[in-house]
Amino acid sequence: MSAWPEHALAAASHADPYPYYRELARQGWTRDEGLGLWLAASHAAASAVLASPACLVRPPGEPVPAIWAGSRMGDTLGRWLRMSESPWHPPLRAAVVAAFAAMPLSAVQTCARQLAAAFLAEGAVTGKRLDALTDYLPAATLAALLGWPEPARGQVAAQVAALARALAADADAAARTRGEAACRDLLAQLACLPASGWLAAWRQAFAELGEASLHANLAGMLFQSFDAGAGLISAGMAWRCRQPWDGNDDKEWNRRLRADPVLHHTRRFVAEEVELAGQRLLPGDVVLVLLAAAAQDPAGPGEAMDFGRGRHGCPGERLALAIAKGALTALESARPDWAALAGSIRYRHLPNARIRRFGAGEMR
Ligand code: HEM
Repeated sequence: MSAWPEHALAAASHADPYPYYRELARQGWTRDEGLGLWLAASHAAASAVLASPACLVRPPGEPVPAIWAGSRMGDTLGRWLRMSESPWHPPLRAAVVAAFAAMPLSAVQTCARQLAAAFLAEGAVTGKRLDALTDYLPAATLAALLGWPEPARGQVAAQVAALARALAADADAAARTRGEAACRDLLAQLACLPASGWLAAWRQAFAELGEASLHANLAGMLFQSFDAGAGLISAGMAWRCRQPWDGNDDKEWNRRLRADPVLHHTRRFVAEEVELAGQRLLPGDVVLVLLAAAAQDPAGPGEAMDFGRGRHGCPGERLALAIAKGALTALESARPDWAALAGSIRYRHLPNARIRRFGAGEMR
């Protein structure tokens, strides 16, 4: 691997992209003609883009990717908080934030720890098993809290994985077909869950928005937890491989996520001419907001940016951390061979997230 990532979309899976990011943060704005993207890398540039109403989460006129237009998946994506802009975004966001606030974090952490312990008890704690745990736990924990019965939770995590594969930029027709089927099945199951416990709180929060919005956003929440959640747990494990650390300390998470982030960038689509942090942007421009670079900008406040900022910032931050804390506690009790795992770490080739794999080199 070369000393410098080839470009910003290759940085998240590079062994040490941080000198590159610091150089980009020093420059503030960069134009990458090869990628056709503006890079907003300083803290000032990234924050200005995330705060600007001229910079949207979807290209104007394409509320969902054209390939999904007219499908059930397309209808679902179009209802997601993550894909929505004003005037739909503020009431949806208020509903999601209220639903998240209704679940005590201690219950989330306990549920994640118990599910992780049961998962690890089923076999030897190999690298592949740990990879499977990181893919299973975020969605399975949320499914358990929503009231999915025990035998179905692994299947929910598998369906969310199919959804994630279908929505990846390099998905082929077969992956998209499987994703559409998984989406339909998840929505059908969500409609049949008994409306008690946490799901009752979701229903109450979505009373004005309707059932279709509720079910789509529950599927959206499961999807949002999947890759980023796996990245967070695998980062905590990788740091533990080097030395013991206090995974229950939020300040420690912030410090480590600033130095070695999981979520490296997000995109914005410019809808109208605007000047942000000294850079003029035109309608049709696309901006890569380099959260990983902005977090390390010496001119910034010195905080992790993993969970984004502003009106689309992650409402699931505390839930995601509670799940990761539960996972790390269960893992400590399972006593894996941390030193052996340290030598097996690889990064998945994803453009925007740094997700470790521990079993890539194992035979099965
Ligand atoms: C339980 C797990 C999680 C849930 C339920 C969740 C949920 C969400 C939702 C619903 C949004 C859309 C917010 C909006 O558009 O208004 C979002 C955005 C975001 N999430 Fe999370 N998330 C989770 C885990 C994570 C993790 C682990 C990370 C980082 C490591 C992360 C990083 C982000 C970022 C950066 C955004 C903003 C993207 C943007 O501004 O374009 N999330 N999340």
